[in-house]
Amino acid sequence: MNLNPKNILITGANSGIGAALAEAYASSGITLALGGRDRDRLEATAERCRAKGATVSIAALDVSDRAAMAEWVAAADAIAPLDLVIANAAVTGGLRPGGLPEGIERSQRLFSVNLFGALNTIDPAMEAMIARKSGQVVLVSSLAGYRGFPYSPSYSASKAALRVYGEALRGVLGRHGVTVSVVCPGFVDTPMNDRVHAPKPFMMTAAKAAALIKRKLRRGKRLIAFPLRLYLSTLLLAALPRGLTDFFLVRVAASVDQTDLGPDNAAATNASRSPSVDNRTGDRPAGPI
Ligand SMILES: NC(=O)c1ccc[n+]([C@@H]2O[C@H](COP(=O)([O-])OP(=O)(O)OC[C@H]3O[C@@H](n4cnc5c(N)ncnc54)[C@H](OP(=O)(O)O)[C@@H]3O)[C@@H](O)[C@H]2O)c1
Repeated sequence: MNLNPKNILITGANSGIGAALAEAYASSGITLALGGRDRDRLEATAERCRAKGATVSIAALDVSDRAAMAEWVAAADAIAPLDLVIANAAVTGGLRPGGLPEGIERSQRLFSVNLFGALNTIDPAMEAMIARKSGQVVLVSSLAGYRGFPYSPSYSASKAALRVYGEALRGVLGRHGVTVSVVCPGFVDTPMNDRVHAPKPFMMTAAKAAALIKRKLRRGKRLIAFPLRLYLSTLLLAALPRGLTDFFLVRVAASVDQTDLGPDNAAATNASRSPSVDNRTGDRPAGPI
């Protein structure tokens, strides 16, 4: 298999792995639709991609806003039929001070962004891909989705759900000529990673991670889990007796900074709210979300 996408949509494209992926794909003849919440950082990514010859549009919107996402993805597909959609946006989270549980509101918000935000990204693209009998859908999960880590229960669980959803979806979409890939990174040096305080073996740069992901997506790899040594260690951790791994994991000094995860839009998806889209053609108004 040799996939060579021309029209690509990426969420979480204003930071870390998403921005690095946008830059890795950017070149003449490539159309990029980039999403994220912070418009200034999105525009900065877009400028770097335009400098490499890509045609770029940006949309400042929250992936948990289902109606806004459906509108944006459909608009991007109408302008340039999407052949690669990467659901990359996510937030991390962990225990409250004192090692107390996260609380239901934070757990819900994490799932709204990390699981349902990803589904909000790929779902509006799937019908058109199925009709065209081509396309590639990518879900960015995590090695944390193989074994729940005591310092971030909801993040681990949201990534496990996304990984398993992607595995199941692969069988469904494969029959229609659409490829599904699940990406499970280990530690990548990004702003999200800065908020996690834990031992970080085999950490790599976002640019290196993006180059690896792009190379494997091109070959249609179903699972892209890296780095290999950490992937194998995680599989071993998940296979060992629970009593043993629990004993060690709760003794690892690890924490995640508590950050503002933003309002939960999932319950309040609002059809009247439009994404703020700037596609540089002037035919869609830019404005606040
Ligand atoms: N870095 C790692 O070590 C690591 C390891 C395993 C998996 N991953 C996964 O890799 C992906 C990228 O992470 P990263 O490390 O690059 O993190 P990052 O630098 O913090 O980037 C996260 C991106 O997601 C966007 N985002 C967050 N919440 C959003 C929302 N509600 N709506 C729209 N966009 C939203 C952010 O945009 P705004 O800043 O505008 O909100 C940002 O562009 C994530 O799925 C993460 O779980 C990362």
